[in-house]
Amino acid sequence: MKAVRYHRYGGSEVLTLEDAERPTPAEGQVLVRVAATSFNPVDAGIRAGGLQEVFPLAFPHIPGIEAAGTIAELDPGADGHQVGDAVVAFLPMNADGASAEYALVPAEALAAAPKTVELPDAAALPVAGLTAWQSLFDDARLQAGQTILINGAGGAVGSFAVQLAHQAGATVTATSSSRTEERLRAYGADRIIGHLDFASDAVDGAPFDVVLNLVPTTPEENAALADLVADGGALVSTTTPPPENPGRGIRTARVFVVSNAGQLAELVERVDAGTLRITVADRRPLADLPAVHDEAAAGRLAGKTVLIP
Ligand SMILES: NC(=O)c1ccc[n+]([C@@H]2O[C@H](COP(=O)([O-])OP(=O)(O)OC[C@H]3O[C@@H](n4cnc5c(N)ncnc54)[C@H](OP(=O)(O)O)[C@@H]3O)[C@@H](O)[C@H]2O)c1
Repeated sequence: MKAVRYHRYGGSEVLTLEDAERPTPAEGQVLVRVAATSFNPVDAGIRAGGLQEVFPLAFPHIPGIEAAGTIAELDPGADGHQVGDAVVAFLPMNADGASAEYALVPAEALAAAPKTVELPDAAALPVAGLTAWQSLFDDARLQAGQTILINGAGGAVGSFAVQLAHQAGATVTATSSSRTEERLRAYGADRIIGHLDFASDAVDGAPFDVVLNLVPTTPEENAALADLVADGGALVSTTTPPPENPGRGIRTARVFVVSNAGQLAELVERVDAGTLRITVADRRPLADLPAVHDEAAAGRLAGKTVLIP
């Protein structure tokens, strides 16, 4: 099969489209014929070697931590699935991924793909959708009637977080550049503010019961974000660690997204019910993966890019 692989850590030039052996499912695994994978910012960190203590790789490595596709083969122990089923999954971070024609996926990570979107676009759902879900409901414990600031709402995680927070009955303030403002309003943001200016302390709508930070911020900026949280509220970050104990009864948490097929199925259900939209900024051939890594590094990727083998 064709796969993008790398044989050592490095820049985007290590990503090579080449022939690789089609894998065979071991116990509890299914082989998915990949309709698409999707780029995530963490892919670049893993490729560069900066995360090797957390996600050590065996080389050659196939990147791509999420997939949409159809089941091609399955281990007899992979109960509840059939060849031909359309599925989505968040893959283990340091196993071979989905930048290939076929990928191995633990059966327990699979959810049925949404029926109302084209299968390749469904590859934009698992990681960003689960991150938004776990940030809001597992870490921040967002409740109906609360206020939330979503910093970095214009990206993949933010687009899902705005929709899910709105549906949960929260009043949503979203930071956004002009390119994403209209979409975030349509997704349920009650108030749109520009990117935060940490030099100024006036933030429309503050204090918030919950601040969800999706932007890589400095320790000083994280302290400023904690100042925007109401007494007894929560500051949750998917990027840099928030202050451990900012006082005033504020809880802080750093998010580490985990695979959860039940939550993924819930997200899929909302997509099919028409209440959760998947935003795909671009569909590219898998051979473009090195260019996509370069565009992400240059800040030119505007939203989720799916890659089609
Ligand atoms: N810890 C975890 O488990 C976990 C899981 C998933 C993601 N993450 C991390 O979470 C972050 C977001 O992920 P993502 O997939 O949503 O990334 P993404 O799609 O690349 O989104 C980034 C968005 O942030 C907005 N942005 C950029 N600079 C900003 C600023 N200074 N202020 C406010 N917004 C700004 C931009 O939108 P606009 O310019 O349109 O506003 C951009 O589209 C990444 O750092 C990623 O690595 C962590």
